[in-house]
Amino acid sequence: MAVLDIKKYPEKVLKQKAAPVTTFDDDLQRLIDDMIETMYAAPGVGLAAPQVGVSKRVAVIDISSKEESVPLIVLINPVIRDKEGEIDFEEGCLSIPDYTARVKRAESLVLSALDRAGQSVEIEAGGLLSIAFQHEIDHLDGILFIDRISPIKREFFKKRYKKKQ
Ligand code: NI
Repeated sequence: MAVLDIKKYPEKVLKQKAAPVTTFDDDLQRLIDDMIETMYAAPGVGLAAPQVGVSKRVAVIDISSKEESVPLIVLINPVIRDKEGEIDFEEGCLSIPDYTARVKRAESLVLSALDRAGQSVEIEAGGLLSIAFQHEIDHLDGILFIDRISPIKREFFKKRYKKKQ
């Protein structure tokens, strides 16, 4: 296993729609293991493949540092089937260091995906796990959490980013 380099805003790969996984081979297993190690090393509660420069629909999520009972989850080709409610939470992202902002998300959801063996799974989630799923699935569509804040806040973020360069 290896800790991979995390791509940072405004790298292009973060804005691309990632391609579905079609082959469950050793390369995919290695990518997943490396992503898990990279997420824990960061440390973060989730990581999507585009964040390590791989434009594929793979994400790993582990919120056990916040909610102990939730295990590590590997999502491949996830699709949100149903959403309900609204929740507002202060989000950050490993690809956007030193910035957080409140983002509105669905409070609960149902998704279907494949696990790392290629088996179909259906997962229901609420609260923090629901937020983490939506944040990571957004990454697979080239969407960052700063795309979901108000235009005024986004302008502020971009100005601050330019200043730091
Ligand atoms: Ni992120």
